[in-house]
Amino acid sequence: MAAAYYKKPRLRDVALRRLILVVSVTLCGVLLLVFLFGSNPTSINDVTRDLVENVGDGNDDDSAYRRDLKVAKGLVALPNQNDLSLKLEKLNDLPPRNLDLYPNLAKDQIIVVLYVHNRPQYLKVVVDSLSQVTGINETLLIVSHDGYFEDMNKIIDGIRFCQVKQIFAPYSPHLFLDSFPGVSARDCKDKDVASQKHCEGNPDQYGNHRSPRIVSLKHHWWWMMNTVWDGLRETRKHEGHILFIEEDHFIYPNAYRNLQILTSLKPEKCPDCYAANLAPSDVNSRGEGWASLIAERMGNVGYAFNRTVWKKIHNKAREFCFFDDYNWDITMWATVYPSFGSPVYSLRGSRTSAVHFGRCGLHQGQGEKKVCMDNGMVNIHVEDADKVPNIASDWSVHIYKNQPGYKAGFKGWGGWGDDRDRHLCLSFSNMYRSTGTSSPM
Ligand SMILES: *[C@@H]1O[C@H](CO)[C@@H](O)[C@H](O)[C@H]1NC(C)=O
Ligand SMILES: *[C@@H]1O[C@H](CO)[C@@H](O)[C@H](O)[C@H]1NC(C)=O
Repeated sequence: MAAAYYKKPRLRDVALRRLILVVSVTLCGVLLLVFLFGSNPTSINDVTRDLVENVGDGNDDDSAYRRDLKVAKGLVALPNQNDLSLKLEKLNDLPPRNLDLYPNLAKDQIIVVLYVHNRPQYLKVVVDSLSQVTGINETLLIVSHDGYFEDMNKIIDGIRFCQVKQIFAPYSPHLFLDSFPGVSARDCKDKDVASQKHCEGNPDQYGNHRSPRIVSLKHHWWWMMNTVWDGLRETRKHEGHILFIEEDHFIYPNAYRNLQILTSLKPEKCPDCYAANLAPSDVNSRGEGWASLIAERMGNVGYAFNRTVWKKIHNKAREFCFFDDYNWDITMWATVYPSFGSPVYSLRGSRTSAVHFGRCGLHQGQGEKKVCMDNGMVNIHVEDADKVPNIASDWSVHIYKNQPGYKAGFKGWGGWGDDRDRHLCLSFSNMYRSTGTSSPM
């Protein structure tokens, strides 16, 4: 009897059950909203609008923004934070230092973001080089840290040559000693088979499980990009270019002025260029020395782009976060740039304004020309031509087409197979927005 009843419910019952379902779902939704927003009469739409549009009215209600951000973060799945992580995240809210020395930024400044891990000897060289850069005192330097290291902080504390702001990646694997994004006791290791070992994790395409030390770089880069463009009060409304450099990049004194010239020439000289670069994409090259601008594939030493390009990159968050390669730059070359549909060129001068250096003696047989560091000293000779702008605005552009290098079709070096890493990465893209990752902005 009952069986028959359930098999053939009368129409009226079905309708009634649907109604009850609809009513209870709606009720749950309303309760959730009330819970999320407390007594603030804010709607999800208000939050979305505020987060997505970033409307600059010069009358920034920062506390409202902070509140909306909390809501947005609440809607995104992020790991539980420990004390250190929470503390560091608070530091990210501090205003820049040296505001007394440099109360104003120049009009059309190019913000400089230096992202670092834990090599103080290197950082010292980079910071010393930055102190000699003409025009650096007109802009804001943001130092983004992967992990917390006193020796690194000391160097940044000593900066007096420009406004400087430190930020710390609060979900860096280096901050979590016994839980994800660090290692947890349940994690699979090396080539463990999860079903046999009853451990947690997904192997990469080569059968290897995640290593927190290795995934931290890509996480940091993506967290930093999202935070600088969309999160920080100081930069989330910045309409110009942002330059990105690393803790092992020596910057020449003319870098900033050259970059200003490049970004101003870019729209006219190279409409296909997405970025400007301080250095050739071949990290061993110092440039051609021609009386010509160069357009070539995007390099990873000293690259600068604007918000339009960031939005295009952010729209490819899924591609970035799901590609099985732990290198952010190879991920960009193999998935993100090719997905733009046209070649992604970057504009630069023909004499480099930055070099990547490494430890001396690591690479055998590369000759003395390799820039390297020993006992805290680099063998870089800054010549007079590197101290003044050396790009002429009447130069034409030489384009390198079909250069070798990573491109679409490369399947990745692996190291990025764990679903938890992929989803943490995606969460970073949604942290400052309450809508999906690919909001068409
Ligand atoms: C920046 O430094 C130059 C000297 O290198 C100086 O002439 C200029 O006034 C400084 N600008 C600011 C804003 O401090
Ligand atoms: C940003 O750069 C891109 C690529 O060079 C350019 O097409 C775009 O017009 C620029 N956006 C703004 C707002 O200047």
